[in-house]
Order: sequence, then structure tokens, then C-alpha cells
Amino acid sequence: MIHDGMRVGASGFTRAGDAKAVPVALAQRARQEGKPLCITLMTGASLGHDVDRMLTEAHVLARRLPFQVDKTLRDAINRGEVMFIDQHLSETVELLRANQLGKLDVAIIEATAITESGGIVPTTSVGNSASFAILAEKVIVEINLAQPLGLQGLHDIWIPGRRPNREPLPIIHPRDRVGTSAIDIPHEKIAAIVITDQADSPSTVLPPDTETSLIAGHLIEFFQHEVSRGRMPGRFPPLQAGIGTIANAVLAGFVDAPFDAFEIYSEVLQDSTFDLLDAGKVTFASGASITLSAARQAQVLGELDRYRSRLVLRPQEVSNHPEVIRRLGLIALNTALEFDIYGNVNSTHVGGTHMMNGIGGSGDFSRHASCAIFATKSTAKDGCISSVVPMVPHCDHNEHDVDVVVTEQGLADLRGLAPRERAALIVRNCAHPKYRDLLRDYYQDALQGGGHTPHRLEQAFAWHTRLRDTGSMLPAARTSAQASVTPARA
Ligand code: COA
Repeated sequence: MIHDGMRVGASGFTRAGDAKAVPVALAQRARQEGKPLCITLMTGASLGHDVDRMLTEAHVLARRLPFQVDKTLRDAINRGEVMFIDQHLSETVELLRANQLGKLDVAIIEATAITESGGIVPTTSVGNSASFAILAEKVIVEINLAQPLGLQGLHDIWIPGRRPNREPLPIIHPRDRVGTSAIDIPHEKIAAIVITDQADSPSTVLPPDTETSLIAGHLIEFFQHEVSRGRMPGRFPPLQAGIGTIANAVLAGFVDAPFDAFEIYSEVLQDSTFDLLDAGKVTFASGASITLSAARQAQVLGELDRYRSRLVLRPQEVSNHPEVIRRLGLIALNTALEFDIYGNVNSTHVGGTHMMNGIGGSGDFSRHASCAIFATKSTAKDGCISSVVPMVPHCDHNEHDVDVVVTEQGLADLRGLAPRERAALIVRNCAHPKYRDLLRDYYQDALQGGGHTPHRLEQAFAWHTRLRDTGSMLPAARTSAQASVTPARA
């Protein structure tokens, strides 16, 4: 059913609810046949079980969107072998629906069950599955016996109407259910059913460390301050937290924080969400997927009835919908690779050129949140990289969309500040001490040229070129001075 040149949409969002058998069979077939079998593969977000690696190694991927986290695929993207479209996660099916990405030939959807009336019940993610199934010519359903039947009823499938007469999205509170519990398509479209029996790949997030715990501490202090100033009237606003170790650790820090009875309206529900549900801190969690560590996966999926009334899984164009995010006044917490002295954020391109994972939903949320926060450790790679730089060499979230930046060193609240005020605060509060003076030197030099947002363009990327050429952003003199000081201190 799948041929060279086709567009295929597969379920799967941050390793959860991904199609597990058909993509692997496709990779095997491509290797055996020895003739081109190259497709455009769209998913919700990243896949588990090394599927992206297998497809890349078998040269099946001509084009991939909208997100990935696989090292083999990442390398192929950065060699220019796979055309990767790094896309806001809420937009893929919107573009498909508007016929801007061509027609979808096949959808491969993991399901818990097919209901008596023909509805496809998704598993641990909804992601883009519903629209893929609706828009594709043929649907292959993978019924995964390892996913508990208890997942039925957790999903809320709502699909926007066609433009120009689209109705508003009627979600007023994170817990609102506005759609159906299964994906309704004409059952004649179901071309095949494959039975599988394999759990989701567990998440790979690391437990909190000293630096991520410090970041969590700065944020909780900031939120307490916001509450005491009456800037969060009523109760703590719904929270979104991005993927990865840092966001998970920050959310984990809320377990001991003095905020009760708040809600999560997010994309990926990680371990920390369930810690907060268990602690009674979070009263309801809405997401597009559930991605858990192995231990948490067994516990949560084994005890779904404990969480059933406090959980909903939605299509990612609903979980990430600008209209709802703005209406709810969400606090959005996402992770940066680096940010610059004015608050522009790079979340995707290492050194400005090499793709890491993709923008994911971070832009969907930050652009429309009531408070958009970006967190990162102040240095990476044993201190050779400063995550606070003069100018980001790739910008995913520009200064207009960024309210707060935070590292383990401290937090900078940028709201209401002009660029010159932002620079002073970011360098003082967020930069690592060994890069602080260098940033100040850069800024003082930039001021000579004047401007609303002063820069010395000849020097703006010098830190990145130095990293490329020497392996460190520190100038040689500092690196050797550092090297001679560190052992003595130790
Ligand atoms: N330059 C180069 N590499 C950097 C870096 C920088 N400025 N900052 C961090 N890194 C590296 C780290 O060293 C680490 O490398 P490793 O995997 O070889 O150890 C890697 O990036 C991940 O960093 P880490 O500090 O462990 O953070 P993380 O797991 O939280 O991931 C992002 C950080 C930015 C890569 C990740 O959050 C991401 O892809 N974000 C974009 C998508 C997004 O925000 N989605 C959420 C929407 S809901």
C-alpha cells in the first residue's frame, strides 16, 4: 500500500502512541528490495523504538516533518540527505487541510480499539492522528494489545472546521471536553489492521540535578512574587511545560512549592505531571501525549482509573491552539539552547546551523502565553559553551515573544524593558560568572555604535566561530588562565 514518492502520516508524539510495526516493515522492505522507496513522513512529533533511525538507515525518508529527536536522522538532516521541515506543531495538519502540503496518501494510526460504530480509539497520544486519518486516502490501523483498554475515554477529538466560516474553539477551562472520544472516519477507509504488542519507548529525561533544581527554585520564587503583587489574580494560571530534562525538573520542583490546585494545559505530560497529580498540587492535566519513564509508565497505565477524571488527551492543534492559550492566560515554560543579551532565543540550531530537535510546540505556546519563560543551564559542554551569547545565530523566539529568561545563576524578568535595560539584567542575572565580563565588554563596545539594540556586527558571532575553531567560546588567554586556576582551587 505504500509506494515510492507517497506522503504518509503516522501516529506518534514524543515517543508515545507511535505506529510500531508498519514503519519498521517499511524499512525492512526498502533494504530488501534494493529499489527506491522514499516517502515524506509526517508524525505528531518524535517517535520511539528507533523507528526514525531505521527509516533513515534504509533511506526511506526523503522528507520529514514536523519534529524529531533521533541522532541518526539528525545527522542525515545536517548532511542535507533528509529534507526536514521544522514546524510549529499546531500547524502541520492545518497546512494539510488547506492543501498546502499536497495530499496525504496513507495514515498509519496506533489504536487501543475500534469501537462498534467504527471509531478509532487512540492510545497514549492523539497528536496529529485524527486529522491524518480524516485526510488520508487509506488508513492502516495498528491495534496495540500492550496498550490498556482503559485508555478509552481519555481522548477528546475536536477538529476545526474549514475556513472561512470556522467556529471558535469552545475550550474555556483546561478540563473542558468539546469533542468525541474516538476518531470517526468512514470504516471503508480502513485498508488494513495490524496487531502489535509492544509498549511505548520510555522517556529518556534525566532526574533533576543541582542546576535544574536551582532553575526550579528561581522560577518558584518568581511566581511567588507574581502572586504577592496581585499579577495572578484568583489562582495560579494553567501551566505548560516543554519537553526535556530541564522542563521536567522545573515541574518536579512544584511538588514542594506553595501553589495548590492549579491545572496543566500542555503538550507532553511527563513524569512530573503525575507527581503533581499524586501530590494533589495539580487538579487537572490536558495534553496531546503521555510520555513516561519505564517505572512511571507501568504504574500510570496500570492505574488509569486513579487519573481518569483528571486527564484529557487532545489533538496537538487543540493542545497548542493560539486561541485557547491566549484565553487561558497560560504560563509557558520552554527550554532554550541559548539566548542573547536582548532575550532572543535559539531552541533548535547548534552553532546557528546544525539542527538539534526542532521548535516543537515551544513557539505555539510562547507566542500566545500570558508569560513566556525560557530556561537553560548557563553553560553547556563542561563550560566551553556559554548559553548566554551576544547574538543568537538562529532565532526561534524573538525578543517580542520572550518575557522571562532563567538559568541556574538567576532570572531576568524582561517585561516592560527596552533592549538596553534587558542586556544589563540578562548579563548580571543569567550569565555564568566566567562569561559575564566578556559579555559586558561586548555590550560596552556595541554601545559605541549606538542604536536601539546595540550590536557590534563584526563581533556578534565571534563566540560561535571561536567555539567552532577552538572548541570553546572562551578566548585562549582565558581558557589557559582558567585551566591554571581550576586545579589550584580544587
Ligand atoms: N550549544 C550547544 N549544545 C547545547 C547548548 C548550546 N548552547 N545547550 C545545551 N546543549 C546540548 C547539551 O549539552 C545536551 O547535549 P547532549 O545531549 O550531548 O548531552 C543537549 O543540548 C540537551 O541539553 P540539556 O541541557 O540536556 O536540555 P534538554 O534535554 O532540556 O533539551 C533542548 C534542551 C533545547 C534541546 C530541548 O528542550 C528542545 O529540543 N527544545 C525545542 C523544542 C521544544 O521546546 N519543545 C517543547 C514544546 S512543548
